[in-house]
Formats: sequence, C-alpha cells, structure tokens
Amino acid sequence: MNSEELPPDLTDCLKSATRVAVLTGAGVSAESGIPTFRDAQTGLWARHDPMSLASPEGFEANPALVWDWYQWRRELIAEASPNAGHMALAEMAPAFDSFVLITQNVDGFHQLAGAENVLELHGNIQRNICSKTHKPISYDWIEQHADDRPPPSPHHEHGMARPDVVWFGEALDESTLEAAFAAAGGCDLMLVAGTAGAVQPAASLPFVAAEAGARVIDINPEATGISRIADWHLSGPGATWLPALAKAVSDNPR
Ligand code: OAD
Repeated sequence: MNSEELPPDLTDCLKSATRVAVLTGAGVSAESGIPTFRDAQTGLWARHDPMSLASPEGFEANPALVWDWYQWRRELIAEASPNAGHMALAEMAPAFDSFVLITQNVDGFHQLAGAENVLELHGNIQRNICSKTHKPISYDWIEQHADDRPPPSPHHEHGMARPDVVWFGEALDESTLEAAFAAAGGCDLMLVAGTAGAVQPAASLPFVAAEAGARVIDINPEATGISRIADWHLSGPGATWLPALAKAVSDNPR
C-alpha cells in the first residue's frame, strides 16, 4: 500500500478496536531529523560500532568517547522537536478504551508530543545513572561537573555518570517489560511504526499480539519481518501514515 488512502477494512478495524498497543522505533523520529540506527547510509551504526558505543564494555574501555557520543545525540535531540507522527499518536489515544505506547526510542518525543502511558523499553537519554550502582544522578550534579567527560558518580567512588539507557547485553527494566508484554498480549490492535524489528525482546511484541488474535498494522518504508506478519503494511514514513490513521479515527467515531 503506497497511497495515504487507507483501505476500508483498515478503517473498519480502527473503528472497532478498543485496546490498542503501539510499538515505535527510530523511524518515527526520522522526520524530526534524528538518525535511525540501521540505515546503511545515514544510520548511527553505519558510522559507529554499536559495541564500542552502546555496551558496558565499550564504556569501560573508553568512557570519554561514549560520553561524548551521547552528549552529541543529546544536543541533536535538544535542537529537534516531535513531528506529525508523534503528534498523531498522542491525538488518537483518547479514542480507545486503552492505548499503551511502547517505544524503543530514548528521545522522549512521544511524551513531548503529549502522549501518556508511554513505556520506554530502552530508557531515556536525558537522564543519568551511576555506572556502578545504577542509582539516578541529578541534572544539577552533571552541570556542576560539566568539565568531566564523564562526570564522576556521587554514589560510588569508582562510578561514573552514564546515560539511563539500556545497552547491548543489559537487561530491560522488568516491570516495563512485563507491562509491554501484557499490553501486546491483551490488545485487539497492534500498531507498529518505524522499527526494523531486529532487537529483542521488543521485536517479539507484534508476534505476541498477532498470536493472541490482534490485528497488526506496520508502518515502514521498508519491508521487515514484522511487515510480513502484519495485516496491513503501510509503506512510507510515519509522519505521513500516522496522521492519516489519526484522521481516520477522528472521522469515524465509534
Ligand atoms: P532501526 O534503525 O534498527 O530501524 C529503523 C526502522 O525505521 C527501519 O526499519 C527503517 O526502514 C524505518 N524507517 C526509516 N525511516 C522511517 C520513517 N520516516 N518512518 C517510518 N519508518 C522509518 O531502529 P529501531 O528498530 O528503533 O537500541 O532499533 C531498535 C534498537 O536498536 C534501538 O532502540 C537501539 C538499537 O540498537 C539500543 O541502543 C539499545
């Protein structure tokens, strides 16, 4: 499907759905100017080795490099804003009995767009934690030690500040993950947007939903393993398709 015109059976499905789970990935922030991870030309991993920048071992080996990389991404995010796709998700949520937005993104754009009930599977890049104890570190502390790359931790003599994101090899927050699987297993419509579906456990959520009988919509300019099991693959950008879905929801009140 390539036009923004939605097929009638999809419009019907939106009208009858009551419990919606959404899974988003880096693609929904592409129109905000934030690079995705796996794009062969422009993706973050095309220019950087994920293991040296997004793993505990990488941080141990070169904390300054990792800190600088996250500071650069924080600046990119600070200069950008949520796009029409983020807005559309926040806008359509109240039309359903339940609407759980599960994201792999760490940019916080869903909340900035007004979304509630957001499960951040991979954390949030704006927060900091101690590398040894994982206790939160305040922004004031980071500012007071802004010349250090990275700042020391106030919680542990050998600890350093690091972003509160999930790195390769680390476990996801258990209660967040449980809530995400409960939402996927209990929804009647799963809306997936902007994810390659290459990283577990997030990638299995649409499969869990489909197995439990939910319809699945996938928005992605490329075909992925998720689009292959989806009832509808809407090929194209999230900032185009998500507003089309939000419009269909508001034009067809239940
Ligand atoms: P990826 O970079 O792996 O995938 C982004 C997906 O978005 C691709 O399938 C693109 O085709 C699609 N895409 C690109 N532009 C788009 C647009 N304008 N609208 C919609 N889709 C678009 O990013 P994720 O799947 O989010 O984790 O990656 C998952 C995790 O892998 C990330 O959270 C990150 C990374 O390693 C950590 O850093 C822990």
